[in-house]
Amino acid sequence: MRDGNPGRILALETSCDDTCAAVLDARGMACSNVISSQGVHDRYGGVVPEIASRHHLELVNLVIEQALNEAGMTFGEIELVAATQGPGLVGALLVGFSTAKALAAGRELPFAAVDHLQGHVAANFIAPARAGGGPRRDRSETGDSIADPALRAVSPGGHAFEPPFVCLIASGGHTLLTHVAEHDGFRVLGRTLDDAAGEAFDKGARMLGLGYPGGAALERLAAGGDPHAFAFPGSHADRARGGKGTSRQKFEQGLDFSFAGLKTALLYRLRDLSASEIEARAGDLAASYQEAIVDSLLVHAERGLETTGLDRLAVGGGVAANGELRRRLEELGATVHVPARELCTDNAAMIASAARFGERLEYPAYLRLDAYATGERSPR
Ligand code: KG4
Ligand code: ZN
Repeated sequence: MRDGNPGRILALETSCDDTCAAVLDARGMACSNVISSQGVHDRYGGVVPEIASRHHLELVNLVIEQALNEAGMTFGEIELVAATQGPGLVGALLVGFSTAKALAAGRELPFAAVDHLQGHVAANFIAPARAGGGPRRDRSETGDSIADPALRAVSPGGHAFEPPFVCLIASGGHTLLTHVAEHDGFRVLGRTLDDAAGEAFDKGARMLGLGYPGGAALERLAAGGDPHAFAFPGSHADRARGGKGTSRQKFEQGLDFSFAGLKTALLYRLRDLSASEIEARAGDLAASYQEAIVDSLLVHAERGLETTGLDRLAVGGGVAANGELRRRLEELGATVHVPARELCTDNAAMIASAARFGERLEYPAYLRLDAYATGERSPR
């Protein structure tokens, strides 16, 4: 592990459809965390890689400028540049990664190539925003301002949560249960064998006629529904009724996740209902479907704690922004750390945080580095 103090960091994150830049000061305090959600993929029902790359190109300079302005710094004061190297959409990654390398090379600064999943883990090291408010996230097609005064007010110094802990990472592309023994790596305990938890949210939302990405919209719809109205696979309600298929039993006892059956169960349930019944019971369907995903995540988190003998749990990834999951994590009886919502969904502050503790290369060694689409690059 590095000393955790490489000085002031500018980090970029462009692995999917959010164009993100952030500045961390020498104490590891987030001075800015600019997130520009492209908001143009909704009409296609998913992220269109080509369009995402083009939008990153349009937005990246504006977002960097804004991150520096909000931090009250010039680029001349930055001591380390970092960017997400992978996994993600290669065309999208290349925009942020190449921009960051070029910025670093221009001043012959050191550079840190960060694994996106390590970034989600490292969001837990950033000191939390003051109670009562997190940074604001604006959704715009133009990359307009995302001012975040609350984030600037994070308590100085120290890390929010220290290893060792179990970390549950649940996003649109990944669902992993990990053992974090050090600041600069993790060991995978379990992973999804099919869909990611966020994908399950997005696909369920789509079936219920909500837009993309659908996680937050499904959560809003679920707020008015009964989570026990329908027993979807993976939920406690389903287990209470003895609804255990052989293959599901395996997932329920192991550390790997599976969400594909849940999605199919919703599809069949919708087929059995008339249009007016679906409309009348949309809240119940959303709440029960959400409950099944959250139950599954909680059961696996609990099993991760049992397996490692640890009593400390952290979370990360866009699904960790889900209010029901955040509320029910308290049931686990462990010491739980939940980053601010804006540090759970994709952002560059988490990439800067990972860069504080990870490997960094001196100029010009990093110029040969390339982005990667799949896989994990974890030191341990
Ligand atoms: O970490 P993230 O921003 O991007 C990836 O690395 O994939 O995660 C995005 C995922 C999407 O699937 C989105 O629907 C889900 O996180 N998500 C949520 C919520 N907010 C975002 N899922 C459930 N409830 C939410 N409030
Ligand atoms: Zn992510």
